[in-house]
Amino acid sequence: MSRPKIALVGGGQVGGNIALLSAQKELGDIVIIDIPEAENFMKGKALDISQLLPHDGYDSKLSGSSDFADLKGADVVVITAGFPRKPGMNREDLLQKNLSIMTNVAENVKKYAPDSFVIVVSNPLDAMVYAFYKVSGFSKNKVVGMAGALDSTRFRSFIAEATNLSSQDVNCMVLGGHGDTMVPVSRLATVGGVPLESLLDKETIKSIEDRTRFGGGEIVKLFGNGSAFYAPAQSAVEMVESFIRDKKRVIPCASLCDGEFGINGYFIGVPTVIGSQGVEKVLTFELNDDEKSALNNTLVEVQKTVEETGL
Ligand code: LAC
Repeated sequence: MSRPKIALVGGGQVGGNIALLSAQKELGDIVIIDIPEAENFMKGKALDISQLLPHDGYDSKLSGSSDFADLKGADVVVITAGFPRKPGMNREDLLQKNLSIMTNVAENVKKYAPDSFVIVVSNPLDAMVYAFYKVSGFSKNKVVGMAGALDSTRFRSFIAEATNLSSQDVNCMVLGGHGDTMVPVSRLATVGGVPLESLLDKETIKSIEDRTRFGGGEIVKLFGNGSAFYAPAQSAVEMVESFIRDKKRVIPCASLCDGEFGINGYFIGVPTVIGSQGVEKVLTFELNDDEKSALNNTLVEVQKTVEETGL
């Protein structure tokens, strides 16, 4: 039996770190595909990561390429290709630039890895995952966007910091689009099973929610050139792992909604079960009125960016 094959389309900061973290979890063999001008750089990254693996005895074969034909045989494809945000830009400003890249990638994934499970990471996420879905014609269980996993881990980290309790025990979710209208669901957040609302006052919770919503932007501002990559990479790896190991983890992901939470025909962050079949299920629950209206606001934003794709 051969190892699972993970293909990364885009080997920048996010893609490179996905390669590293996936190899360190021994999730499979990894190919990093990028543009021809970056082919040697990809080969170098693959070689460099290969050479750290013996330290802990991890076995994974890595390679770099600029040939989409190397997608062949991929079980999972993670797409990070595209330009990152610069200071002052929102994710939507990126749309037109990254749409043509995504169209080309989708055509090639369809051609070379038609049975793969695809995780889209490129921004603006909600539009890019929709574009991939439309262009590739993949079934809805084989396409998902990585956003809620990242937004939720940010939310978790801020809760851990504010409560001075272990991040391991923080359980929470962020729903909606991957933009400033995302919905951190504080009402259901817990630390070790204890409701967050009994641990922190309303004002502190509100400030954590705000910081979560602008978590990506905070890092863009600090970097001055480019956007976050460590936490985005690990968030994508969690999804890859749940698929490859059939863990059936419940992760907030941009999944195609078909009536869940009253949403139809859009990819938006909802609690998603990821297992060997890809997106196996979207879990739903009763939202309160504030949450419903917040989810409605974020849906309007998602609809706007999706309309801009013209797809
Ligand atoms: C972020 C970018 C990657 O949230 O969207 O950091």
